Amino acid sequence: MSPACLPLVFLLLLERTSRAHFPEESGPISIALDDYVKQYAVFVGNGLGRFAGQDGGAERLHIQRMLTINRTLFIGERDNLYRISLESATAGEMRYHRKMTWRSNKHDINICHMKGKHEAECRNFIKVLLLRNDNVLFVCGTNAFNPVCSDYSMDYLEPMGDNISGMARCPYDPKHANVGLFTGGMLFTATVTDFLAIDAVIYRSLGDSPTLRTVKHDSKWFKEPYFVHTVEWKNHVYFFFREIAMEFNYLEKMVVSRVARVCKNDMGGSQRVLEKQWTSFLKARLNCSVPGDSHFYFNVIQSVTDILEIEGRPMVLAVFSTPTNSIPGSAVCAYDMAQIASVFEGRFREQKSPESIWTPVPEELVPKPRPGCCAAPGMQHNSSSLFPDEILNFVKTHPLMDESVPSLGNAPWIIRSVARYQLRKIVVDNAAGPGRNYTVVFLGSDSGTVLKFLIRANLSASSSPARASSHSLLLEEFETYPSDKCGKDATGERKLLSMELDKATGSLLLAFPPCVVRAPVARCHQHSTCMKNCLASNDPYCGWTPEGSCIFVERNTRLAFEQDIGGIKTSYLGDCEVQFLEI
Ligand SMILES: *[C@@H]1O[C@H](CO)[C@@H](O)[C@H](O)[C@H]1NC(C)=O
Ligand SMILES: *[C@@H]1O[C@H](CO)[C@@H](O)[C@H](O)[C@H]1NC(C)=O
Ligand SMILES: *[C@@H]1O[C@H](CO)[C@@H](O)[C@H](O)[C@H]1NC(C)=O
Ligand SMILES: *[C@@H]1O[C@H](CO)[C@@H](O)[C@H](O)[C@H]1NC(C)=O
Ligand SMILES: *[C@@H]1O[C@H](CO)[C@@H](O)[C@H](O)[C@H]1NC(C)=O
Ligand SMILES: *[C@@H]1O[C@H](CO)[C@@H](O)[C@H](O)[C@H]1NC(C)=O
Repeated sequence: MSPACLPLVFLLLLERTSRAHFPEESGPISIALDDYVKQYAVFVGNGLGRFAGQDGGAERLHIQRMLTINRTLFIGERDNLYRISLESATAGEMRYHRKMTWRSNKHDINICHMKGKHEAECRNFIKVLLLRNDNVLFVCGTNAFNPVCSDYSMDYLEPMGDNISGMARCPYDPKHANVGLFTGGMLFTATVTDFLAIDAVIYRSLGDSPTLRTVKHDSKWFKEPYFVHTVEWKNHVYFFFREIAMEFNYLEKMVVSRVARVCKNDMGGSQRVLEKQWTSFLKARLNCSVPGDSHFYFNVIQSVTDILEIEGRPMVLAVFSTPTNSIPGSAVCAYDMAQIASVFEGRFREQKSPESIWTPVPEELVPKPRPGCCAAPGMQHNSSSLFPDEILNFVKTHPLMDESVPSLGNAPWIIRSVARYQLRKIVVDNAAGPGRNYTVVFLGSDSGTVLKFLIRANLSASSSPARASSHSLLLEEFETYPSDKCGKDATGERKLLSMELDKATGSLLLAFPPCVVRAPVARCHQHSTCMKNCLASNDPYCGWTPEGSCIFVERNTRLAFEQDIGGIKTSYLGDCEVQFLEI
């Protein structure tokens, strides 16, 4: 975008704002002082006990993945895997208990070079880190563009069993996205399966069922997808991703967000149709838009939470942005799992000829049993491989649902159109505060700035999601990237890779390429000089004590404290003098 066209863009934005009912965006109630970031515990590659100082932070880390299981943190890095206990009190630094080094062998590295890849790329980047069962981790690395996977014991990180191919389980190139989960002993993954990253798949392997994949090189199934998350719900595994929308092929390369699903018990098609491929793969668009006369869409999904319950409803929350060449903006939309599922029971969409536009398939033209359904005992066709060819052919050619999934309340729960924040990651505490009765959403920007929102969902008012509503209050903004420990902001180093909530300690874990940071969910102490500020912070994690300080209130605490979430009491209190606060 040239600077000359900026004013026009803003005029357009203003016009949209007035017509599309953008809610007003207020600033945060509090902004954390810069000094706080220096106090956060950081992992930069150092070990504990006999490992202490071994590496001495000599080499910068290249972190790829982070996984927390109960009170243990696993970090997948370039050529290394670390295990860190979150129990041990750590002031200033988190140190590993175990480190396992898994380098590519000379042969793989040589072939990688011969294929024209750079020295720095021909390493083993750990891209898959999954809990396989109670004491086994499933780990895959890019292995110099020849991905490989293996099981590791959770306690000592010792390899268990043989290496298996990482193809369709792990990308070749560390820059590519991948997601995965285990359920019922089966591994569900979504990634690109080849060196050139052209063949995208949703893949099932391991376990007792046959290996299945999506149809190869069929743009109806996928068009340059980028996978962001996967969850299981009831009989299905769901995948969240963005891709180029074939149904808008008249618009050049329009990206939309999707949710796709497959049946866990899919056995693949017959020998004639969809053999060794999904018979249950269906996908639908996710609608995250601002209502009004002219709709404004947030089309680019960035990340999704696991399924969580808010007001008794199972849902996921997702962060979306606008495309990079558009007006910068981010939004959070919520989706009810039952509603996602119901869209897959709705109409299919098709394109009758390569030139025609996409239209819904009339109900009478949909064969029975319903294409995409899960086979079940007692059904006439009790395995997907027994479905008639007519059904299988229909599924193969009609993976797209006609309707898009509406967001809860038909509007984003949070919108930020301030260019400074490119919001990328989301974490939700649906049991925040001492009474565990508040919902707090943390949004992480590309560079590790966190925005913390209090969400008030009004879902119980009506069973109709269209009537559900929500409003959000921006409580706090804080930085999390400690340049002094993790390094100055050289290119890419400050990029937030992932964010997780450690409920037990009331902290967020944030992974950047050179370090993992543990930042508390609240900085109550900064309001300690003033009762009014403490209460007015509206922060469910903070409380004012009778002794006169603002503290982080533990769950189920027996201490007396006062809060004012909703803000009625503070108006009676006098303002405080501005005071210098030492933290
Ligand atoms: C995590 O903790 C829960 C509850 O203590 C336990 O049931 C579960 O087995 C633990 N998970 C793992 C992988 O250790
Ligand atoms: C697995 O692969 C790694 C890296 O290529 C190699 O060092 C290791 O010996 C292999 N393990 C087995 C059991 O083959
Ligand atoms: C499917 O049905 C056949 C008989 O129609 C039965 O023999 C078979 O056990 C059934 N399989 C399952 C998985 O229910
Ligand atoms: C998205 O949701 C809005 C609000 O309900 C609706 O008006 C619009 O038609 C939907 N868009 C799509 C593509 O379904
Ligand atoms: C949350 O619980 C506390 C008591 O633990 C109560 O005072 C407060 O009103 C509750 N808030 C909401 C929104 O239910
Ligand atoms: C919740 O929604 C209902 C109906 O939509 C409305 O009557 C009620 O006032 C709302 N409650 C709150 C607390 O906003």
